[in-house]
Amino acid sequence: MLEVNYAGLRLKNPIIVASATPSMSLDGLKKANDSGAGAVVIKSVVFPKKYLKNMEYVEGRPAGLKPSPRFLLLNQGETYNSSLTDKRAYFTLFRVGEPYLKPDEAAEMIERGKKDIDIPIIGSVAGAVDDYEEWKKLARIMEDSGADAIELNLHCIPVVKYTNSKIVRAVRQAVAIPVIAKLMCAWENPESIGPELEKAGASAITAVGTFGMPVMELDVETPRILLQPSYYGAGGPWLRPVGLAFVSKLAKVVKIPISGVTGVVSWQDAVKYILVGATTVQVCAAIYAKGYKVLGEITQGIKEFMERKGYEKIQDLKGFLQKDILPREHLEYDPPIRALVDEDLCNGCGDCRESCFFEAITVEDDLARIEAERCDGCGLCVSICPLRAITMRKV
Ligand SMILES: Cc1cc2nc3c(=O)[nH]c(=O)nc-3n(C[C@H](O)[C@H](O)[C@H](O)COP(=O)(O)O)c2cc1C
Repeated sequence: MLEVNYAGLRLKNPIIVASATPSMSLDGLKKANDSGAGAVVIKSVVFPKKYLKNMEYVEGRPAGLKPSPRFLLLNQGETYNSSLTDKRAYFTLFRVGEPYLKPDEAAEMIERGKKDIDIPIIGSVAGAVDDYEEWKKLARIMEDSGADAIELNLHCIPVVKYTNSKIVRAVRQAVAIPVIAKLMCAWENPESIGPELEKAGASAITAVGTFGMPVMELDVETPRILLQPSYYGAGGPWLRPVGLAFVSKLAKVVKIPISGVTGVVSWQDAVKYILVGATTVQVCAAIYAKGYKVLGEITQGIKEFMERKGYEKIQDLKGFLQKDILPREHLEYDPPIRALVDEDLCNGCGDCRESCFFEAITVEDDLARIEAERCDGCGLCVSICPLRAITMRKV
C-alpha cells in the first residue's frame, strides 16, 4: 500500500531519514531501519579542508566551530519554562559546527549497512562548489561501497547555485546509480532550477535543505544568551510552509520524483508534501526531538489515513492538490465572501471579536454576530475561533 518507486529504488514506504546526525553511524542506520523508515540518506561526506573556500576542516569538522549548545530545540512561546516546555510540541531546531563524515568512514558504514539492513542506503556527498572532480570522486566512493543512490548536498553554500547543474551533470557521467540533487529554496527559483537539473541528468530532487541564516536565542530569567548570533542551519515545522510551496512549484515543472523535506514531524505533514507532488518525504528534526520511533509513527499514521479515506496507493495521493494550486494573479477572491457563525457551535467567548480589525463582530447572548457589511472576508476569525465555529462563505 505504501510502496513507492523513487528514482528507480523500490521503497516499502515513502518515509526517508534525511542526511544528518541520525544517519551518521551504523547504529543510526540500523535504528532507522528498525523503526520502519523506507530508506535512509547518510550524513554528508566531504573531503576535509576542501569543502568551503577559506574554511579549514579538522577531522571532518569546520575548524573553530565546536560551540555548545550545538543543537537547540526551541518551542514556540514560553521556551524555557519547564512546565510549559514539551519536546513534542511545536519546535524548531538550530545547530552549528556539525562534524561531517570522512569518505573512508562513510564507505565502511555503507558496506556494513548493506549487510545489516534491508532498506536502501542513499549516500550523500558535498564537494567544493567548483571542483567537479572532487564531486565525482566522492560519488564513486559512495557507489563502490554499495550505496543505492547518491544525494548531492547542494544546499549548504549559497554560491553553489551557480554550478549546481554542472555538478549534477559531472556526477551523472561518473556513476551508474541514481543521482539526487538536494536544493535550498532561498537561493533558487523552482520553475527554472527544476528543469535545469532534470536536463542535467538528476534522477530526483530533494527540496528543501537546511535554511542557513544567522539566528539568536535568549533566556530571559537569568538573563543570558543561549545561542550566539552566528550562522546556523535551521530546520523544523516553522519552515514547512516554505518547503511545501517550493515542492508544489517544482512538481509542476519536472517529471522526475521529488523528495519533500523540512518540517515533517507528523504523518499529516508527510501527507501534505505528497498531496502537492512529492513521491517521498524526509524527516530530520523530528528524530532529534522524538527519537527514531517517530518514523514508525509517521508511517503508521499515513497507512491508517489511507485506509480510512479509501486510498489504495501513495500514487493516488501524489499531487492530488496540484490542480487546485493557483498562480498569484488568481488569488483574488470573488467578492463578497463573509464569515458565517455556526450558532450551535459558538459559545460567545469573544476571541474572534478581539481579533477583528474591521469591527465586524459583536457578541450578544453568548453568540458571535457578524455584521456582513463590515466583514472584509479576511478569514482571521476562522483561525482564531477555538471551537471551529466560523467558516467563510460566498454570500
Ligand atoms: C544537525 C543537522 C545536520 C545536518 N546535516 C546535513 C548533511 O550533512 N547533509 C544534508 O544534506 N543535510 C543536512 N541537514 C539538513 C537535513 O537533512 C534537513 O534537510 C533539514 O534539517 C530540514 O529538515 P527538518 O525540518 O526535518 O529538520 C542537517 C540538519 C541538521 C539539523
